[in-house]
Amino acid sequence: MLYIGVDLGTSAVKLLLMEGSGRIVKIVSREYPLAFPHPGWSEQNPEDWWEQTVEGIRELTADCDKSQVAGISFGGQMHGLVVLDKDDAVIRPAILWNDGRTEKETDYLNQVIGKEKLSAYTANIAFTGFTAPKLLWMRENEPENFARIEKIMLPKDYLAYRLTGVHCTDYSDASGMLLLDVEHKCWSREMMEICGVRREQLPDLYESYETVGTLMPQAAEALGLPAGCRVAAGAGDNAAAAVGTGTVGEGKCNISLGTSGTIFISSRRFGVDKSYGLHAFDHADGCYHLMGCMLSAASCNKWWMDEIIGTGDYSGEQAKIEKLGENQVFFLPYLMGERSPHNNPRARGTFVGMTMDTSRADMTQAVLEGVAFAIRDSFEIAKGLGISIERTNICGGGAKSPLWKKIVANVLNIKVDVIKSEEGPALGGAMLAAVACGEYASVEEAAEKIVEIVDTLEPEPELAAKYEERYRKFAQIYPAMKGIFDQITE
Ligand code: XUL
Repeated sequence: MLYIGVDLGTSAVKLLLMEGSGRIVKIVSREYPLAFPHPGWSEQNPEDWWEQTVEGIRELTADCDKSQVAGISFGGQMHGLVVLDKDDAVIRPAILWNDGRTEKETDYLNQVIGKEKLSAYTANIAFTGFTAPKLLWMRENEPENFARIEKIMLPKDYLAYRLTGVHCTDYSDASGMLLLDVEHKCWSREMMEICGVRREQLPDLYESYETVGTLMPQAAEALGLPAGCRVAAGAGDNAAAAVGTGTVGEGKCNISLGTSGTIFISSRRFGVDKSYGLHAFDHADGCYHLMGCMLSAASCNKWWMDEIIGTGDYSGEQAKIEKLGENQVFFLPYLMGERSPHNNPRARGTFVGMTMDTSRADMTQAVLEGVAFAIRDSFEIAKGLGISIERTNICGGGAKSPLWKKIVANVLNIKVDVIKSEEGPALGGAMLAAVACGEYASVEEAAEKIVEIVDTLEPEPELAAKYEERYRKFAQIYPAMKGIFDQITE
């Protein structure tokens, strides 16, 4: 049988067709616009997601025997607020995970309701990109829209809804709403009250690998797929990427260098970071995970290459980098503010340390290193919790760069396992569909049989020591700049 994984990303939807054996048959990608209607805001039109997904699936399955497509599932950008009215029409553009408009509401939740209570209700505190503060923002700033809300959902759940007519979400993605009691896997009564939402407005909860329905006749027709094709709930993109890289079960680590950058640690037991630096979420394998998320990772490199130096030749620019571990230039990668660990929407991108002999290659190198150092900030928190990480998987667009992988291995001083396919969330989505259709007994079994490590990058002691010293310097820059960020973003 064949399975489709849909990675509903921030710049594009990526669709992957997988055989039951795990062999990838085809991958297609379709872009859609991202709007920044005010500085720090970030929105998308759910209809664009739907249209590009439909077109993409048609292209993906154009040459295959469509009757063999048994299941579809997702990895979706997390935390986005999608609201529908009584006629199932989208009320306003979706407010995305990297939108920073809810500073006031986030402060209210963390300071007036209080972090301890939030953590007791949900296992997490508030961050500007999370869904609950967005609901408070809408209640305050768009009361007419808020009053019309019949259904609240996350981005990938809108696709599942258009495919099946079922209003659903999964535990991993729901964890990032700040409305879910992550430990007990149910909606938090207290959080619903705080946000002024009713249970009927929230979707039904599923495990990521559970079937939520089959294709509605009009969806089957639009896609040219069998009406019996199952749709599984899917997962937030990081949990789906973890599935796609085999980061399931106890104590495994995955780093994603996508638009965002994440460090994801799987765990069979529920646990909370009492310092609130890492998110405590449910995982797509039925267990739990801890995660640190930086808001701009590969997007920093894209910004530097495309917008600033104006080239599409990423590998050509990286080939000019020679002196690893000796760069005098530092870059703070906070182009959309920052989530983990600083939780500061006012943080900004910053270059420090240039002199007259600084070259373009030094600046490019600083961007790649700045992202790795910022991942290390979250890695340090995990180490502080007593979690020992000796190796990590890696995926996302940035993982295509051998140099960036080498920098990550040496900045974190751990082994980096390279997976045969870097298509984390799309592959994870297809694997979840295969589990829902009974091709594998569990997500762990699917990961064991499908995911293949093809190479391991070992840290080099001398280079890791140089990066240790550079990281100590990097770690002093944000605290020194924080007051300036507050002033320049007033
Ligand atoms: C995770 C997060 C991002 C988005 C990116 O908490 O906000 O990784 O899911 O799509």
